[in-house]
Amino acid sequence: MTMDRYVITGKQRLEGTIRVSGAKNSSLPLLAATLLAEGTSTLLEIPALADITHMIEVLEHLGCGVMRQDEALIINAGLLDSWDVDEGLMRQMRASNLILGPLLARRGRVKISRPGGCAIGSRPMDQHIKGLQQLGVKVKEKHGYIEAWADQLQGADVYLDVPSVGATENIMMAAVLAKGTTLIRNAAREPEIVDLQNFLNKMGARVRGAGMDVLRIDGVDALYPAEHTVIADRIEAGTHMIAAVMTEGDVTIENVVPEHLEPVIAKLRQTGAQITLLDDSVRVQQRGRLKGFDIKTMPYPGFPTDMQPQFMAMLSCAEGTSIITETIFENRFQHVDELRRMGAQITVEGRTAVIRGVETLEGAFVEATDLRAGAALFLAALAAEEATVLEKVNYIDRGYEDLEEKYRRLGAKVRRVIPNE
Ligand code: UD1
Repeated sequence: MTMDRYVITGKQRLEGTIRVSGAKNSSLPLLAATLLAEGTSTLLEIPALADITHMIEVLEHLGCGVMRQDEALIINAGLLDSWDVDEGLMRQMRASNLILGPLLARRGRVKISRPGGCAIGSRPMDQHIKGLQQLGVKVKEKHGYIEAWADQLQGADVYLDVPSVGATENIMMAAVLAKGTTLIRNAAREPEIVDLQNFLNKMGARVRGAGMDVLRIDGVDALYPAEHTVIADRIEAGTHMIAAVMTEGDVTIENVVPEHLEPVIAKLRQTGAQITLLDDSVRVQQRGRLKGFDIKTMPYPGFPTDMQPQFMAMLSCAEGTSIITETIFENRFQHVDELRRMGAQITVEGRTAVIRGVETLEGAFVEATDLRAGAALFLAALAAEEATVLEKVNYIDRGYEDLEEKYRRLGAKVRRVIPNE
């Protein structure tokens, strides 16, 4: 597949207002959750992103009717006539594995091709599988497929060895229709888990505890379609905040839940940025050179791994030496070589990167290797001297809606080049 590229002319001060779209990582489990009820659910503010299109294709393959009507995505999961998802669909996006829990709950049966590793790490599924087995699911793994079935799901006491976001969501979505009570201990506490709990409860489920490390789910007999507005994307918001800081700009970011961004805001204040919190927006102003600092990625409410590459781009041109430790994914430093091409001074030893801040980054030919690495290079290009050609921006399209349009309105010089156009 040929991919688009951006041509970005850096050193333009960003100024104005930018609105954050609905959260990709909330939209994906919410879409999967619509499988739990017969009938038509409506989700509002689902972003138009490549990953969302893939999830819609998975739902359609399973028999759902999906329609976009202005801001609403309408999903009719009345008739499910399939319970397996083939390799082609699974390979496009890991998060398709979120259909495991809902299909087991609704149909008692599911078969998916096992998601492979990806650019940032090996990404095992053991916690998903262990949790589902505790609910009474039988699992067979053969020829690269995971097949699972259960006559009747039974509530259970599940302990996760790591607070996996996807495992917590899959087990929640299976447990809502199980007999009896399920506890998920050491559950992920991300805001997306709270959003999923809210939607499931609107559908008639009985889930409590999201946002804390123990979830309690009292199984019910059936769920009903519901309407829900997805929360704002905290990673998108954080990316815009960094753009404002790196261009010494003045940007107001709308549709933000400041509480979801606490670790990001705390760190950005350490650069010397002025951050003003309003009800559902944040204003970021920066003057002068940034100061460096250290970061360690952690599960929520710690510093998010999905913001690590963007912070590295920023720290590359901050004063002093900064250290970033990545504890969630083993291979999430692929942006380092590309940032180096732009003049960054970074050395990596295992899971630690040492960044010696340079005065300024320089435009170069660089390539996105995954979604957030792409975002990091986009930010670096905004702050760099002269032009950057950023290849493979389709990775960025997986997680950022209308990026170039949104940034042009802030004063950025960015152009998308589509091959053979
Ligand atoms: C979600 C996010 C992703 C984010 C990640 C961590 C979505 C669609 N994606 O991914 O953007 O980077 O959370 O915040 O929401 N693990 C196991 N066994 C398992 C599952 C996970 O060991 O069965 C490990 C992983 O290798 C990783 C850690 O747990 O080290 C966190 O992964 P997890 O929270 O599951 O990430 P995802 O849900 O895939």
